[in-house]
Amino acid sequence: MHKIGILGSGKVGEVLADGFLKHGYAVTRGSREPAKLEAWRSAARGEARVGTFAEAAAWADAVVLAVKGTAAEAAIEQAGIANLAGKLVIDATNPIADAPPKNGALSYFTGANESLIGRLQAKAPQAKAPQAKVTSLMSKDLPEAPGKEALMIAVEYPPGSSDPVHRHNAHAMVYVLEGSIVMQVKGGKQVTLRPGQTFYEGPDDVHVIGRNASKTKRARFIVVLIKDKSAPVVVPAE
Ligand SMILES: NC(=O)c1ccc[n+]([C@@H]2O[C@H](COP(=O)([O-])OP(=O)(O)OC[C@H]3O[C@@H](n4cnc5c(N)ncnc54)[C@H](OP(=O)(O)O)[C@@H]3O)[C@@H](O)[C@H]2O)c1
Repeated sequence: MHKIGILGSGKVGEVLADGFLKHGYAVTRGSREPAKLEAWRSAARGEARVGTFAEAAAWADAVVLAVKGTAAEAAIEQAGIANLAGKLVIDATNPIADAPPKNGALSYFTGANESLIGRLQAKAPQAKAPQAKVTSLMSKDLPEAPGKEALMIAVEYPPGSSDPVHRHNAHAMVYVLEGSIVMQVKGGKQVTLRPGQTFYEGPDDVHVIGRNASKTKRARFIVVLIKDKSAPVVVPAE
């Protein structure tokens, strides 16, 4: 893998493109208006090109998606779903809504029980995204605990997949179905779990390690969460 297509003309795309160039990769940055990236290209050190989203995706061995979150689905359509098939696609986008922050908090345009990467993977199923694939299986309101719900999700880690550090603001009970996963909460012991084994995270736990133990085989597990109805499934943490 030598050719990296970066879809995005913003700051994130620029920093990532310069980083890949620095490490000896060839980079094509994609934009709806490639001409606006000419100044970057002429100043870049290394093998730098610019093109449309489709040109960058078709040329690349691996693609980084670094567009505005609300435009991510449109951008991968413009890149061409066929141009992403079989390629590693690294998603740097956040599902931040266009609405201004409320009381200092950003809002997401995705629902509480879905992820943007889940939507993108459904659109480009042949792309090799290293992120976990999360499917919401069922949710039930808990009338004896008003405002709370029980949510069951299925998580699939592709080979080599690793979660960013996060928390759930929920009680989370994990049951492994297939493969092997490595889990650790802050201050806790690192454990490697196999099918039939379980793991628990409390609302105050910071999940510092969650990854597939294998670089060649997928892993699948079920998580049952007890959480506030409006709360997102995953919240980034330090
Ligand atoms: N993972 C992280 O640590 C991290 C950190 C910061 C930001 N982010 C995320 O990284 C992403 C990029 O952020 P950024 O600030 O560099 O750029 P940005 O301003 O959020 O996005 C600019 C890019 O979005 C594209 N775009 C906007 N509207 C579009 C539309 N309707 N159709 C197709 N493409 C459209 C633009 O295309 P054109 O080139 O054609 O104008 C441009 O390439 C965002 O999702 C942001 O939330 C992630």
